[in-house]
Amino acid sequence: MFDPALLHPILCCPTVDAIRACVAPWRQAGERIALVPTMGALHEGHLSLVRQARRKAERVVVSIFVNPTQFAPSEDFSSYPRQLQRDLDLLATVGIDAVFIPDAGVMYPAGFATTISMSGPAAAGLEDASRPVFFNGVATVVAKLLIQVAPDLAIFGEKDFQQLAVLKQLVLDLDLPVMVQGGPTMREADGLAMSSRNVYLSASERALAPGLSQAMQAVKTGLAAGGTAQALIRTAETELEQAGFRIDYLVLRDATTLGEWHSHSEGRLLVAVWLGKTRLIDNIAIDPVDPDGQIKE
Ligand code: PAJ
Repeated sequence: MFDPALLHPILCCPTVDAIRACVAPWRQAGERIALVPTMGALHEGHLSLVRQARRKAERVVVSIFVNPTQFAPSEDFSSYPRQLQRDLDLLATVGIDAVFIPDAGVMYPAGFATTISMSGPAAAGLEDASRPVFFNGVATVVAKLLIQVAPDLAIFGEKDFQQLAVLKQLVLDLDLPVMVQGGPTMREADGLAMSSRNVYLSASERALAPGLSQAMQAVKTGLAAGGTAQALIRTAETELEQAGFRIDYLVLRDATTLGEWHSHSEGRLLVAVWLGKTRLIDNIAIDPVDPDGQIKE
């Protein structure tokens, strides 16, 4: 079937053969190749990863694929925003070398029978607790993308902090010859972390949404001022619930292992909430606290 995206000035590769043929001469010339995997509906968060890729590599490939295997039947796969032409126009403003746009038949042809099943950071009791199929779907599709494009570097956002940890583990465990790098979370001016799903928020929900990052910042500030994590988190939970958020989790974990946080190590405050029918996730860094100080876990 004719796909108008293929006429776009950006080189669009719809098949594995096409992206491999595109990348092969770059690799032969010894150029460094970076891949930024996405599901499209691009925003400034995605573009910041693309800019990071451009600083780190001579060639940048972006993949756009709304991956069905990471959505549960109850989730928003069919309504997930799809806007390929707009995405390509945005990518053209940043300047990239190719877009890989496989469809589901290319990624999962009839008879496809393999799933990567992960534990470790994928079983940290965060996203996995309410989305049991999510990380197996993500790990499987990202492993395929890394094998298909074979980049030197792959960049993922810290916005999805557990996903980033899972993908670092995946690459380590499968000896994939690629470096996984994280990129900082881009936010709207009022602090809301950018997300393709923010378009689901009604006007009144959108007005409430910045309360999430404010609540997280209050925990961070409170910890730095000598408060205890448990009390600060309880206060934040109460405030969020009173404002109309339904909390999935709000936890402080070790930033590297996603396990228990000890006050002398780098921490990460991770949150998932529902605002109406929209699920929002976010996280921020928590500085280590002097073990001899007054702060208790
Ligand atoms: P998607 O949600 O499209 O996100 C693509 C990449 O953009 C991810 O690495 C994500 O962490 C990053 N990102 C999203 N919002 C961001 C923000 N506000 N600031 C910085 N980076 C941000 O995550 C996925 O797609 C999929 O699970 C994928 C990895 C592509 C596998 O299907």
